[in-house]
Amino acid sequence: MSGKSSYFSRGEPMDKKKQPDNYRHQPRRTTAYALEALEARILLSADVAAAVQINQEQAVATPQPTAVTVLSAQADAQQTLSVADLLVREASSFATMGQQPTSMSSVVMSSTDIIPQQTLTVSDLLTRDPSLFNSLIQSSSASPSIAASDFSRLFPHLPSFAPNTAAVQSALMELGKRGGILDAGDDVSNPRTLITDPSKSLNNPDNPAMTAGMTFLGQFLDHDLTFDRSSILGQAQDPTTTLNSRTPAFDLDSVYGGGPIGSPQLYDHSSAGRGIKFLIEEIPGSVPESREGVQRYDVPRDSTGQAIIGDPRNDENLVISQLHLAFEKFHNAVVDQISTTSGLVDPAEIFSQAQRLVQWHYQWIITHEFLPKTVGAELTTNELLSDPIFFDAQKDASIPVEFSTAAYRFGHSQVRPSYRANFGPEPGEEFFALIFDDSLSPSQDHADLRGGERAPRRFVDWQTFFDFGDGNARPNKKIDTHLSSGLFDLPTVPGPLNLTDAEPQSLAQRNLLRHLTFEIPSGQAIAQAMGLIPLPATAFADVKSLGLDTQTPLWFYILREAEVLQQGQQLGPVGGKIVADVFAGLLQHDPTYYLNQNPAWTPTLTNSGTFTMVDLLDQAGVVAPV
Ligand code: HEM
Repeated sequence: MSGKSSYFSRGEPMDKKKQPDNYRHQPRRTTAYALEALEARILLSADVAAAVQINQEQAVATPQPTAVTVLSAQADAQQTLSVADLLVREASSFATMGQQPTSMSSVVMSSTDIIPQQTLTVSDLLTRDPSLFNSLIQSSSASPSIAASDFSRLFPHLPSFAPNTAAVQSALMELGKRGGILDAGDDVSNPRTLITDPSKSLNNPDNPAMTAGMTFLGQFLDHDLTFDRSSILGQAQDPTTTLNSRTPAFDLDSVYGGGPIGSPQLYDHSSAGRGIKFLIEEIPGSVPESREGVQRYDVPRDSTGQAIIGDPRNDENLVISQLHLAFEKFHNAVVDQISTTSGLVDPAEIFSQAQRLVQWHYQWIITHEFLPKTVGAELTTNELLSDPIFFDAQKDASIPVEFSTAAYRFGHSQVRPSYRANFGPEPGEEFFALIFDDSLSPSQDHADLRGGERAPRRFVDWQTFFDFGDGNARPNKKIDTHLSSGLFDLPTVPGPLNLTDAEPQSLAQRNLLRHLTFEIPSGQAIAQAMGLIPLPATAFADVKSLGLDTQTPLWFYILREAEVLQQGQQLGPVGGKIVADVFAGLLQHDPTYYLNQNPAWTPTLTNSGTFTMVDLLDQAGVVAPV
């Protein structure tokens, strides 16, 4: 099974320099109403078409299990799928997520007429389980031209940083353990003084160049690009047969899902929402918890508290959950604006225009705010204006594992040990909390910032996270080889993280073991392959006893490089180059990118000619007075 469905999968690969004119100016087709595009991808039998009808009627009431997208995103017209293959992939995916197999397994396993060696077509599967249809739409129409794909490699010729032996595994476990080299050792006894008193986190310095919200914007961007749900920690796996469940594009598929038809459960079907605005919900009891008594909102949840959103990871902590909500509310505000000013009446057209405007303003923030702050303004400009050197998105736009497993995980070191989530009703009643505290007793409203919970105080005041010019913004942490202590004990309760006690709870250990999974080359080897002089072994003296000072895992190398060469304020040359190359390649290859659709475009939702996260949050209506 190739599992590969490239951008131009139904045509010849296209040379960027020979693109027809309509490539640049073609208006983007709305995801919601592109059923005919889907039908072109999947040859629907009469039975399946009938099943589709049934499924669309049921879809609002029955949110689809997300796991089936593991299967569906790999499906392509005429492709035959081995049941054995599917089961193996799906089982490992569920194992990773700590869940019981449901839906697809029960369909296949309970079908006595299917035996493991049998192959069957997509149509066969759809006939057996109509509910797969929604997932197929989701995976194929969230970005109609860019399909989900597997991962890839930037440096396929370079060997793994180390053999996958018990000794190497144990060195990585040692390096990433709680209380180990990477643990900042924060004094977590008081989440408030952890912010105001630097002596409580001496190994975990603030980054004066970025505010605390950049961390969560970075995490949100990752969740738009990559989602490996199937590889197993520490077990070697070929990236090119490992599915990335997100489209490799900054298209917000993590928010839009499959659009109003593909993911109807995400949208508000009341007369006010007309099926094209996102469903959001009030937080009962939040008014008295909020400064000046402002009603607060949450992403929608089912009866178990699980968020009904395009990517479950966007409910992994309170801040990213509220950021997801902000993007949904931003879309809703743009829908309202277009409805009242454009003269358009067709909901499909209004949705399409709103989605495009949201994507363009989001991409503007990425190229004008996030990337310059993360890799530097000069590298950003150079990369965006020239062809990426190492990431050839024209040839293969799938996400390289050097990016997803190592370089782009730099953000884990930016996370603060605690935050001021909101200002509370009165001075002195602010909600300060640790990012995670796995020692807390079970509760519907833990005193930390884990996600997956709704309670009156669980909302964010953004003035702490982005600079609104009122003196309330707080910095994030430096990009360095020290991570906040809460990340070494990720909560294992059922929730968006989906970790079990049997797995490493240390995020650092997980990152490092994932290097063995994808046989990631060392930082030194990659620096050399880029024509750079690698950091000397002396820069890694602290990991010499672990045998990692000359063949250093890329993630650790990139953190150390940022610390040594950029004082932790931004990424260094290897990390910066990988991140900028992949960002630039993805954007240049993306037909939704504003520069590909309208090179002269500048933000239209402000009068300043630019657009920042502060503008987005303001326009989303999520910034309450504090
Ligand atoms: C509180 C904040 C965060 C938490 C708790 C968190 C947690 C996690 C966890 C549990 C994983 C899966 C680890 C594994 O099993 O391999 C992961 C993966 C990842 N994280 Fe984070 N993360 C956070 C913030 C960030 C930030 C700020 C960034 C980047 C700026 C980032 C980038 C990534 C990437 C690229 C992956 C791999 C995703 C994939 O391909 O599936 N994360 N994170």
